[in-house]
Amino acid sequence: MAKYIIEGGRELYGSLTVRGAKNSVLTLLAASILTPETVILNDCPDISDVAVMLQILRKLGCKVSRRDSSIEIDSSGLHSYKIACDPAKELRSSVFMLGSLLSRIKRARAVYPGGCDIGLRPIDIHLAGLRELGVTIGERHGHIDCDGTHAHAADIVLDLPSVGATENLIMACVFLDGISVLRNCAKEPEIVDLQNFLNAMGAKVRGAGGSVITVEGVKRLHGVEYTPIPDRIVAGTWLIGAAMCGGKLTVENVCPEHISSLLAKLPKSSCKIYPRDGKIAIESKGRPPAVAKTETMYYPGFPTDLQAQMTALQSVSDGTAVIVENIFETRFRSAVELCKMGADITVSGNTAVVRGVESLYGTRVTATDLRGGASLVLAATAAQGRSEIDEIHHIDRGYEDLSVILPSVGVKITREG
Ligand code: EPZ
Repeated sequence: MAKYIIEGGRELYGSLTVRGAKNSVLTLLAASILTPETVILNDCPDISDVAVMLQILRKLGCKVSRRDSSIEIDSSGLHSYKIACDPAKELRSSVFMLGSLLSRIKRARAVYPGGCDIGLRPIDIHLAGLRELGVTIGERHGHIDCDGTHAHAADIVLDLPSVGATENLIMACVFLDGISVLRNCAKEPEIVDLQNFLNAMGAKVRGAGGSVITVEGVKRLHGVEYTPIPDRIVAGTWLIGAAMCGGKLTVENVCPEHISSLLAKLPKSSCKIYPRDGKIAIESKGRPPAVAKTETMYYPGFPTDLQAQMTALQSVSDGTAVIVENIFETRFRSAVELCKMGADITVSGNTAVVRGVESLYGTRVTATDLRGGASLVLAATAAQGRSEIDEIHHIDRGYEDLSVILPSVGVKITREG
């Protein structure tokens, strides 16, 4: 299995350019089959979650090609409604295909996406919403069989503001006669991106970014060339890394307003932040003071996808920090690995108490999930000495090869295996 080897204890200097957002690209790839015309997505990251999604589209009969960071999808030959099992088991966002397949061909079959390392990750809200739209759903032997022959517009209230369920239901409504109303929707920037993408194809979606979204059915959608929003989680990961290691880093291609909750948390006494025209520069000097409390919340609250990275920052901050994970059940697994590096973290239920230490020390650790793995990269970069990070396929899901990217800002990192 591949691993990263990092010689830590170095400051970060230079700039890192962020690509299109994984959690937007995956959804837009699912939405691309809503038209038989060609769709081009630019600035797509070269990460394994995107590769798996392309595999799913090919197995449905789509022609998919990638040229540098642009992906072209031609779904005119789409001939199946069965989302391939193996890749779908790997990728939760395969369930987002239900809505777009139902809109395109009125049928969809998927496997239950596996729970993963961060929680149960049920899809009950997706399925309840589809049923409200008149989709009949059979669930047996781990499969979900959907029939949208009699689907109709509806007024739906989501039990909780699920990102995926909001996106799935928007895609399921685009061709339904009349106006569908979705309430208690997630407000993430990726949902606004989906609305902009669909409307650029001729859809009539309104309200994304707020809790009520309306979708007026149209007859068809046309092809489009589109550039997704930048990845706010990757941008936040590098900013936290700079706060941990010190130095002067510029993160390019970022929307500061998408990570305002993080910027508000980075300690002003040790981090000077300069957001301007699509970039954020950070100057970090001295040991950061602990942030007394961080609670993950639905957008625009502090993102759960930056919780592990924030926990790593607090592990070397001056003082005691409390971190509360309100979105997923088991998203502190990387804390165990941080403790192997000398961190002092006590986890009880959905709360971690972090007593900051002067410095972590390099050792061998194992990535447990995507963002937990990213937090270990940050910790190893800040730590004194050499670290090895195993199971880095978790990190490959959402970050391009860090042994190629990070040396440009002074990180001593290689990849083996
Ligand atoms: C999306 O996952 C993201 N993934 C996640 O990013 C992100 O952490 C999450 O939103 C929250 O922001 C993609 O966009 C591909 P949810 P999603 O539905 O849609 C519960 C990463 O690291 N829930 O908003 O699956 C669920 O268990 C990944 O990039 C139900 O109970 O998240 C969770 O507690 C990790 N029933 C909460 O809602 C449902 O039917 C939020 O989940 C659906 C969700």
